[in-house]
Amino acid sequence: KKPIIYLTRKIPNEILVPYQDSFDFRMWEEEETPVPRDVLLEVVKEADGVLCLLTENIDRELLENAPHLKVVANMAVGYDNIDIEAAQEKDIIVTNTPDVLTETTADLAFSLLTAAARRIVEANDYIRAGKWDHWSPYLLAGSDIHGKKVGIVGMGRIGESIARRAKGFGMPIMYHNRSRKPGAEKDLGASYMGFDELLREADFVVSVIPLTTETKKLFNKDAFQKMKTSAIFINVSRGGVVDEKALYHALNENTIHAAGLDVFEEEPIDANHPLVKLDNVVCLPHIGSASVETRTKMLKLCMDNLLAVFSGESPITPVKNP
Ligand code: GLV
Ligand code: GLV
Repeated sequence: KKPIIYLTRKIPNEILVPYQDSFDFRMWEEEETPVPRDVLLEVVKEADGVLCLLTENIDRELLENAPHLKVVANMAVGYDNIDIEAAQEKDIIVTNTPDVLTETTADLAFSLLTAAARRIVEANDYIRAGKWDHWSPYLLAGSDIHGKKVGIVGMGRIGESIARRAKGFGMPIMYHNRSRKPGAEKDLGASYMGFDELLREADFVVSVIPLTTETKKLFNKDAFQKMKTSAIFINVSRGGVVDEKALYHALNENTIHAAGLDVFEEEPIDANHPLVKLDNVVCLPHIGSASVETRTKMLKLCMDNLLAVFSGESPITPVKNP
C-alpha cells in the first residue's frame, strides 16, 4: 500500500506525475484558497505524509490528531508555522526548502530595497494617475543606494546572498547574527556588529531573521528610534519580527524614512491596512521566493524529501531543532 500524502494546496499535475507510483496523493482541490482548518484536522487522521505551505498552522493539536504521520514537508525555508517540539516528541520528521530559494529571495530583497530607496512604485503610480505634466529637479527624488551602508540582521544563506548584491552596488556591509561569519567578513568585507550598533549605523536595515520566540517583535519602537531618520527598513523574513504599530508610527512620524515589506504580522493584508496607506512604504504579498523556476524547485524538493523518508533514507533538508 502506497503512503497517503496530503497536499494542502492544488499542486500542478506535472510535478506530481513522477511521484505517482510511490504515493497515494490526496489534495485540497481549490486553486487559490488555503485548506480550512477543520478539513485539515480531518484529513491528517489518514495521512502518512503532509506537504504544507506556510499558511498552514501545524500545531500540537494537529500533530496529535495524526496517528500515521511520519513527515511534514513545508514548502518554505521558514518553519515558524510548525510546532517543531511537538513534532520531535511524536518522531515526526519536518523538512523545509532551504538553498533552492536563496538567490531568488535575495533578488527580491534587493528589488524591494531599490524600490523603496528610489520610490519606484510611487513613481509608477504617479504616471498612471496622470500626474506627470512637467519634469522638475526634485521630482520623485529618492535616496542613493551606492555608497550607503546596508545592515543585514540575520546573516544566513539569504543574508549573505543579499550582501553579495550589496557589494556589487558599492555598499559597505554590516551584519548582526547569532554567530560570526568569517567567510562573509573576508570575501565581502562585512563587519559584525551588535544589534543596537547596527541600527544606529545602517542606512538600510534589512531583516532576514527567522521568527522565533527570541526574535518576536525584535523591531519595536525602541529599535526604530535607534535608527537614523534617513533609514530605510526592509523586511523579507516574517512579519512577526516587527511590531507593526511601532513601524507605522515610525514611518508616519518620520522617525525613519521609508520601508519595503514583503511580509506582515497577519497575512494576507488588504488595501485598508495602515501601512498600505503610507506613500513611503512599498508592500508586497509575500513573494520573496516567487519565481516560476524557484517555486517549482521548492515543490520538487518537498516531494524528494517525502520520497527519501518513505524509502527509508534520510531526508534531504530536515529542519534541525534550533
Ligand atoms: C518564505 O517565506 C519561506 O520561508 O520560504
Ligand atoms: C535561512 O535559512 C536562510 O537561508 O537565510
